[in-house]
Amino acid sequence: MNSFGRKFKVSIFGESHGVNIGATIDGTPPGIPLCENDFANDLDRRKPNAKGTTSRKETDTPTIVSGVFNGYTTGAPITILFQNNNTISNDYKNLAQHPRPSHADFVAGVKYKGFNDPRGGGHFSGRITLTLVAAGVIAKKILDQFGVNIEAQIVSIAGVDIDNTNPKTEQIIEHKIEQALANCDSLGGVVKCTAKGVKVGIGEPFFDSVESRISHIIFAIPAVKAIEFGEGFNIANMNGSDANDTIINAKGTTKTNHNGGVVGGIANGNDITFKVAIKPTPSIAKPQPTFNLESQKIENLEIKGRHDACITLRTPVIIEAAAAIAIADLYSI
Ligand SMILES: Cc1cc2nc3c(=O)[nH]c(=O)nc-3n(C[C@H](O)[C@H](O)[C@H](O)COP(=O)(O)O)c2cc1C
Repeated sequence: MNSFGRKFKVSIFGESHGVNIGATIDGTPPGIPLCENDFANDLDRRKPNAKGTTSRKETDTPTIVSGVFNGYTTGAPITILFQNNNTISNDYKNLAQHPRPSHADFVAGVKYKGFNDPRGGGHFSGRITLTLVAAGVIAKKILDQFGVNIEAQIVSIAGVDIDNTNPKTEQIIEHKIEQALANCDSLGGVVKCTAKGVKVGIGEPFFDSVESRISHIIFAIPAVKAIEFGEGFNIANMNGSDANDTIINAKGTTKTNHNGGVVGGIANGNDITFKVAIKPTPSIAKPQPTFNLESQKIENLEIKGRHDACITLRTPVIIEAAAAIAIADLYSI
């Protein structure tokens, strides 16, 4: 449903064009310093500032309405609220009848019998990831106490690998984004995430493996279509002698990290590494054929509204937050 976690539990709520969106975080230990300013850095990183991101600007100012007293968490559930102020709902009024391909309009209409809020994608909007990022700030604070640090970065856009030593790759990607914008189209990408300092033994065998819990929450992020740990799909092409990570000391440090820091579902003390594939934004202005439930014909749909042409640009901080929530929960089990 709309909650994740066993002991560190995050519930998210709201719709893209509703009054408020927010998160309730239960299971935060008491005594952690927390104020609204602590959210600024991560919330800013999610904002649509780059070329190829939506022109919808929101202040994303958090209001902590419970669970914090005198600047410290109390141990009671923390609720954080945000307002939606910059909404243009008219752009979405035809989508219940003429649902966007690759978006949730059709499935939501069927599942909720037409009662779902379609404005701006409603509860399925990427806007709701603001609440995940907010919860992630608290999860990161908990993990700080255990010496765990999580960082994510974009590794490729539209199949072009980002190579920081070669400024040309940046230009190629910028050109691809400009082309996509000019063609009213969209692009996908891949983000890599690394969690450093997760201690040996975190995670459970089988159903609550580190991979399962991280994957579970990562797939809650709209537009995520794949995740792979360590060498991922490529490990299937390797010999055991190449794929096996030689253990080089009593701490369990390995020479290589093809398993992405997890074996038997349990953290082995090396970096936990995984990559996430983000699909191209479904809402493109380019006319595309799709079934019209009213006319009962396949007709061209020209999607209006303000959209990210490349969602990937905004996702590293969301992926960090999701991973932090999953790992904080595993620490508290
Ligand atoms: C940060 C972020 C921004 C997004 N922006 C848009 C957008 O502008 N337009 C759009 O159609 N989808 C956008 N999405 C993706 C849709 O919400 C998502 O594709 C849709 O709900 C269908 O879910 P699925 O792709 O997970 O199957 C965004 C997702 C994220 C994480």
